[in-house]
Amino acid sequence: MAVNQNITQLKEANKLKIEQKENSRLRWINLNSAIASVDESADLIQGLNQTPKSLPCRYFYDDRGSELFEQICDLPEYYPTRTEQAILENYALEIAQMTGSCHLIELGSGSSRKTRLLLEAYSQINQELQYYPIDVSAGILKTTALDLLRQYPKLKLCGLAGTYEQALAQLPPAELQNRMLIFLGSTLGNLNQEQCNKFLTQVQQALKPGEFFLLGVDLQKPIEILEAAYNDSQGVTAAFNLNILRHLNQRFQSNFVIDQFAHLAFYNRVENQIEMHLRSLKTQTAVLEALDFEVSFQAGETIRTEISRKFYIPTLISVLENHAFQALQVWTDPQAWFGLLLCQRQCINNECP
Ligand SMILES: C[S@@+](CC[C@H](N)C(=O)[O-])C[C@H]1O[C@@H](n2cnc3c(N)ncnc32)[C@H](O)[C@@H]1O
Repeated sequence: MAVNQNITQLKEANKLKIEQKENSRLRWINLNSAIASVDESADLIQGLNQTPKSLPCRYFYDDRGSELFEQICDLPEYYPTRTEQAILENYALEIAQMTGSCHLIELGSGSSRKTRLLLEAYSQINQELQYYPIDVSAGILKTTALDLLRQYPKLKLCGLAGTYEQALAQLPPAELQNRMLIFLGSTLGNLNQEQCNKFLTQVQQALKPGEFFLLGVDLQKPIEILEAAYNDSQGVTAAFNLNILRHLNQRFQSNFVIDQFAHLAFYNRVENQIEMHLRSLKTQTAVLEALDFEVSFQAGETIRTEISRKFYIPTLISVLENHAFQALQVWTDPQAWFGLLLCQRQCINNECP
């Protein structure tokens, strides 16, 4: 298995080398070091050892998970993507005019489907377009990178494969260039309050005063709309949720029996968040061989696989202010279902003369 994996990785690396030669506008950085992959599984084991159990939601995203997420974005019940897209259709150019020429760095870029609207807008004001998409799902990152280079002749792209934490610690240097960090799709909502504070501290440290942070967040709304969005009638969200176990089986040589778990998604009114869980249909045990770790489930016990917090803009603005970000402008859709905030990093503690 390990040998096969190495051969596949070598083939991928060779393919990329060829593509890089062919395309001098593409650079590729793999942020996963050996040390990072040891750390990587620590939160996985911690989550499975806890009561109630949980899994880091980044494990949704292997190639299949990214493909299923793309399908979710097109579901009639899943309003966030099309709502955020509509906001960007209306305001991408205004955003570009407000920030002026800048390098675009995106966390959790996936297929960059909405970012294309920003690329269009910035190509109108930038001499040269520079985009740094960052994603833990290397397959979709690479396919998207090649597609974008074909679509935008002015574009120079540097793809970074790895986690937010790895990327924020190693962002391309600011030099003289103005930068905007982009975080769309309400992915911020997948972090609990503590993780969110840690993340925003990292964003604050990564950006210089004057630079920009563009943040898309899902807002509070009637519970029926929220619950329908995570329980679609075609069962795509259920397949996405269960795919996390298939991904773990492949990545850590584990033996979760996928059809012995069921999808569960509901709104937690106390925490103002959607929660996705996998419910064990019987008493069972799974072994993660690569981690030398075993986990047991009671019948009916659940693993929480994702939270999706729903925000209230004034509260979010004050959280951002605590991390040295001033919201310059907030745009929403006519129903106020989704918010897009353009924030600017402020000077703190004698940072500026
Ligand atoms: C909810 S999707 C959003 C995709 C896209 N930004 C959008 O708005 O449609 C989250 C994206 O972040 C990536 N991702 C999830 N957890 C990550 C992590 N810890 N570090 C880096 N990327 C992550 C996933 O692979 C996926 O592409």
